[in-house]
Amino acid sequence: MDSVEIDALSAELSGLAPAEGLALLAGRFGDRVVFSSSLGQEDQVITDLIFRQQLPVRVFTLDTGRLFPETYELIDATRSRYGRPIEVFFPDTERTRQLTTQKGFHSFYESIENRKECCGIRKMQPLRQALAGARVWVTGLRAEQSDHRATMPLVEYDAAFEVLKYNPLLHWDYGQVLAYLSAHHVPDNPLHRQGFVSIGCQPCTRAIEPGEHPRAGRWWWEASQKECGLHQH
Ligand code: ADX
Ligand code: SF4
Repeated sequence: MDSVEIDALSAELSGLAPAEGLALLAGRFGDRVVFSSSLGQEDQVITDLIFRQQLPVRVFTLDTGRLFPETYELIDATRSRYGRPIEVFFPDTERTRQLTTQKGFHSFYESIENRKECCGIRKMQPLRQALAGARVWVTGLRAEQSDHRATMPLVEYDAAFEVLKYNPLLHWDYGQVLAYLSAHHVPDNPLHRQGFVSIGCQPCTRAIEPGEHPRAGRWWWEASQKECGLHQH
């Protein structure tokens, strides 16, 4: 996809609601449009938009091996609700064996480098595999989630993964996400009712207190950007 094509698509998508944008891309690129779902609330909205419209978009999740039991239950509940598969990608066995043999199961608490190493093995490499052959990568990112995400465009070319990246809910606020889930009876993670907002791996996510930043519960021991490397731009 060259820059002229990207600009044209970007202009088309910027005038469309998420449901319409997803339908347009699916009509044009079929199953080479792929959606990465962490089963978060934003992701459940997008899954519903894809499956409700019976779009050929492939939905996948990255099973890091460290997810909450509730997240695994939600994967199954979502599959049965829509009768559509959710593809699951796993970390490379050999790299995971080396990491855990040499550094144990909690090396990420020791340094940012170790944390990025673990995210690299358990998330980045499987993502690379999941995106192989795709033309468009759909995500559930929202601008409101962080200063970093606030700078992201609706559509951009992701040079790291060589795909067009589309963030259909970029300009939705959290209230819109909750209203959509409730209006369409979309299943979500029961942990959201226990103080968890942004949910990732179990050892790297905690509940937050009222008034705390929504991402404060992610890698809470770090004073970092709180990103795992999946989303650069
Ligand atoms: S993260 O980078 O901090 O982990 P976050 O949980 O906010 O990301 O999710 C943002 C988007 O990244 C999701 O909407 C989804 O598209 C993608 N994503 C994050 N984690 C996963 C995962 N385990 N599997 C698939 N997609 C994921
Ligand atoms: Fe590893 Fe934590 Fe990153 Fe999950 S979030 S891949 S457990 S460092």
